[in-house]
Amino acid sequence: IYRSDFPKDFLFGTASSAYQYEGAASEDGRSPSIWDTFTKDKNNTVDGSNGSISNDEYHHYEEDIDLMAKMGIDAYRFSISWSRLLPEGKGRVNQLGVDYYNNLINGLLEKGIRPFVTLFHFDLPQVLQDAYGGWLGPEIVDDFRTYADTCFREFGDRVKDWITINEPSVFILLGFNNGSFPPGRCSKTIGNCAYGDSGTEPYIAGHHVLLAHGAAVRIYREKYQPKQGGSVGMALSTAWYVPMTSSDADIMAVQRAVDFLIGWFLNPVVFGDYPSSMRMVVRDRLPHFTPAESELLKGSVDFIGINYYSTYYASDHVPPEDEGISFFSDMRCFVSGFRHGISIGPTAASSWLYIDPYGIFNVVLYISKAYNHLPIFITENGVDEANNLSLPLNQSLDDYQRVQYLRDHLFHLNQAIRSGADVRGYFIWSLLDDFEWISGYSVRFGLYHVDFTTLKRYSKASVRWLTEFLLK
Ligand code: GCO
Repeated sequence: IYRSDFPKDFLFGTASSAYQYEGAASEDGRSPSIWDTFTKDKNNTVDGSNGSISNDEYHHYEEDIDLMAKMGIDAYRFSISWSRLLPEGKGRVNQLGVDYYNNLINGLLEKGIRPFVTLFHFDLPQVLQDAYGGWLGPEIVDDFRTYADTCFREFGDRVKDWITINEPSVFILLGFNNGSFPPGRCSKTIGNCAYGDSGTEPYIAGHHVLLAHGAAVRIYREKYQPKQGGSVGMALSTAWYVPMTSSDADIMAVQRAVDFLIGWFLNPVVFGDYPSSMRMVVRDRLPHFTPAESELLKGSVDFIGINYYSTYYASDHVPPEDEGISFFSDMRCFVSGFRHGISIGPTAASSWLYIDPYGIFNVVLYISKAYNHLPIFITENGVDEANNLSLPLNQSLDDYQRVQYLRDHLFHLNQAIRSGADVRGYFIWSLLDDFEWISGYSVRFGLYHVDFTTLKRYSKASVRWLTEFLLK
């Protein structure tokens, strides 16, 4: 696969997020996010770690921009830390936060790298969690609108590509259905939470995410887009699903998985309401949109961001009565990487990641056809290796599995474009090794290896490959 196989304006980028990269957690006026609070309890991450230093991009951004420029990267996707910009969650703007993002944006533009900015990548200001339960409170809609407004106003003269919210299904299900992400809520029958209700809270939080997205997009379209001329989308966690058996029940389970995990957010922002299959099952636990809200949401993305990593088997699953009601009991579907003990694809370091390059073709074509052939960006794609500190450095840099992964996914993505999908760009997760949420530093997703004691960056083999792919 060659760069020249892709459309002329196609963008190749790398992706990151604020809490996973920046560090400087209590510097220059940043207030804690729910991830700072959550990781204070060392039992919440596999290695007891947190993102308070991570790869310290806050102090290394110039170097990191240079690394990208040298590879021939066209675009960089990063997120803004809400609590760095607005330490009280609303109101007072922290000028030092504005300065940091201005420096980052200007530095990128100087090197000809286009900034793609995510407004929300899991790191809700703790003050808003405390004030009204974060995404569970309807107040979040106004606060997100104000935060988004601040970002468009401060940065929109130079940033033309915005992503409102990253992977809502992930932070909502892990935060409110299973309780393994902050704010750590779930029903007692589902996980180890002190509080929560997995049968209602995920839907309520999801509803507020959608209304917040809609509010941000409206203000962008009314106040900024006409002059600034940019575009705005949402980034979704996706996967491809293969029926476990050829039974009708399993084939229907696949469609439910797609409706619940992708349609939950994509249907409202494209068509103005939840998938009817969700309504039928979840009934009065699924909130309704007023006609005005539905109108607001309909067509509220200029592009669709697809994060794709893995494919799974899906099978029909009737949950045991005593399990209690949850998002997954509503979905009535069991998702697994294995069939008869054999995995659907080669495994990576993260136990949830099964390598299936053909899956990116399937997901992209499915979404393109089902959602009006909207423009698509692959906002994340990548693979990880274990963080093995006993390996000599030169062996840690030998990431041939990543080279293979990227090349294979680009090949199948290219096939999707040739089959008619309007894909405009592809972002690798990730530029650097970083804080991988509850997996801490136990896995490495970077093109660059980071020594987390010296914070030095070392190029892995994939950097050589990518440089050649982009610049040859
Ligand atoms: C996301 C992802 C990233 C992860 C990556 C690897 O929400 O966009 O969770 O933050 O680091 O997907 O798991």
